[in-house]
Amino acid sequence: MPMIYLDNAATTLQKPPEVTAAVRRALETCGGAGRGGHAAAQRAAEVLFDCREAAAQLFDMSGPERVILTCNATHALNIAIKSLAKPGKTVLISGYEHNAVVRPLRSLAEAGVKTVSLPTPLFDQEAAVKRFEEAMDDNVCLVVCIHVSNVFGFVLPVERIAELCRARGVPMIVDASQSAGLLPVNGDLYPYWCLPGHKSLYGPQGTGLLLIPPGGELEPLMEGGTGGDSRKPHMPEYLPDRLEAGTHNAPGAAGLAAGIRFVIKNGMDQPSPLTRQAVEELSAIRGVRMYYGSCCHKGPVSFTVEGKDSETVASLLSDRGIAVRGGLHCAPLAHETAGTDATGTSRAAFSHANTARDAAALVRAVREIADRALA
Ligand code: ALA
Repeated sequence: MPMIYLDNAATTLQKPPEVTAAVRRALETCGGAGRGGHAAAQRAAEVLFDCREAAAQLFDMSGPERVILTCNATHALNIAIKSLAKPGKTVLISGYEHNAVVRPLRSLAEAGVKTVSLPTPLFDQEAAVKRFEEAMDDNVCLVVCIHVSNVFGFVLPVERIAELCRARGVPMIVDASQSAGLLPVNGDLYPYWCLPGHKSLYGPQGTGLLLIPPGGELEPLMEGGTGGDSRKPHMPEYLPDRLEAGTHNAPGAAGLAAGIRFVIKNGMDQPSPLTRQAVEELSAIRGVRMYYGSCCHKGPVSFTVEGKDSETVASLLSDRGIAVRGGLHCAPLAHETAGTDATGTSRAAFSHANTARDAAALVRAVREIADRALA
């Protein structure tokens, strides 16, 4: 039975053929970028530069050197959070953050960083803005906000929250893990943006980006070789080298550049009609509860089936050849905020490779599971 893959909020599985070709070409031709003056090292340097240029184009950035190549969004978030959170100060986060934000901040609590989460109702952007505005006092050193909830697809009003931060001179980090490739991200805007390469940008796993705003400064999370300035004991001051220690993932960067160019060429958010189809049809099933807001939803579709645990639903769907993710999605805070922490949710998300038949198959299978649960 061929699998219908709908776990695209975790990682996209079916990559465009040009991504696979680019990874393969880089594997076969790239040396270590900046490590030697020979053609293979030069080829790797070109690959990295090309990836930064593609990202700068998609994310409207005037300086590709402010595109930092990371291992994933979590790596990017750790660099930014551990540089900007200050002992004795407060960090404000939304009520929908992933463990990629919650856990680094938790580890900083031992160093005296206080984290305050601001739970607000699902799909209520006004409430989110108001909550951040009220909480922004003189002790706040940083705001971290997810752009699109990885569980519910709730689009948080990060541009408006960024305006509040800018007015007060408070740095802001946006976790764009679910939005990059689906919604516009402007890397020249005030926040630091952290995002994975392997979701809706269709790059390989093990790739991510940290977009530094103009004038932004971060401390390295890791120190090591950068290819140049070898006599200096410290990391260089200039970007991107300051934040990129060690040999790069050139095959990953090559694939990510190809994925980004695929998005630029074909347009963002190709799966949107399938998402709408799934939401509409799942909503009509007796015993299914949808977590959806027509005003500000993008990407992942979360639902529960009455009388069934979310992981059981995911497993029953897997038995029927459909891959979704159940449980807490590494985001217990988001589930607590939405009141779904006891059961979790089952979550489907579409990619460019899915079809209306895939959405229909999901709806059919969920209907069957819900009918049996209620029988
Ligand atoms: N954060 C990813 C998810 O939501 C892995 O599944």
